[in-house]
Amino acid sequence: MANKKVIVTGGNRGIGKGIVLSLLECGYEVLATCRDASNFDFSHENLSVANLDISDDASVEAFRISVEEFEPNILINNAGITKDNLFLRMSEDDWNEVINTNLNGVFKITKLVVKGMLKRRWGRIINISSISGSMGNPGQTNYSASKAGVDAFTRSLAKELGSRNITVNSIAPGFIETDMTEGVLDQEIIDKIPLKRAGKVEDVASLVNFLSSEESNYITGQTLVVDGGLFMK
Ligand SMILES: NC(=O)c1ccc[n+]([C@@H]2O[C@H](COP(=O)([O-])OP(=O)(O)OC[C@H]3O[C@@H](n4cnc5c(N)ncnc54)[C@H](OP(=O)(O)O)[C@@H]3O)[C@@H](O)[C@H]2O)c1
Repeated sequence: MANKKVIVTGGNRGIGKGIVLSLLECGYEVLATCRDASNFDFSHENLSVANLDISDDASVEAFRISVEEFEPNILINNAGITKDNLFLRMSEDDWNEVINTNLNGVFKITKLVVKGMLKRRWGRIINISSISGSMGNPGQTNYSASKAGVDAFTRSLAKELGSRNITVNSIAPGFIETDMTEGVLDQEIIDKIPLKRAGKVEDVASLVNFLSSEESNYITGQTLVVDGGLFMK
């Protein structure tokens, strides 16, 4: 590995923050983003932050300069949203917003980094999807479709980039304690999880660390589930 430079989208809170802190601890240099970089409530000598709205073309275009200067060889596509509603009540706006952020956003940010990785002949792309993309969830037709799309994107891109020493994988978390699951997690859900607890951001971050490292050299095109056993195929 030429260097250890990582971009993490949505790195200011939740799973993204857990990933950023864990990568910093392992000696990576991290460029973390969120929609308003003044929302970062932590700092580190190897951390830089940038404004980025992955659903907004102008914001993505402005971020291109930061990517070119930073020269990342690892990308963690973490930023994502939910807009849950039962299908009959789901508006087209809520459908479009979730697809545009969770799926189109992954496409756009990956486009920004891939050329540099190809030039440097080494790369890791790690997409945070969800078990909702495989098992489905009532009220989440938009979210499930976006995350299934991310997993499919992962497999196809892995086949395109494998010969260039770039691996592409997804991580599909189950229920992780963050703002996204606040008010959603209840005892009924916990009872269904074989490990009898919700996940912590560190449970996802440790797998990101492994997939970012040389030790994961021969793993690509996979969706790895981190859910305490909730969804078993
Ligand atoms: N928590 C779970 O149980 C769970 C389970 C499965 C999958 N996931 C996935 O894990 C990822 C992180 O989720 P989380 O639970 O940590 O969520 P979270 O606490 O709600 O944090 C979401 C992050 O995404 C960023 N973000 C949202 N929309 C964005 C946009 N348009 N442009 C740029 N950044 C944007 C947010 O930035 P701002 O602060 O600017 O809003 C924030 O940093 C998501 O992809 C989510 O789908 C989570």
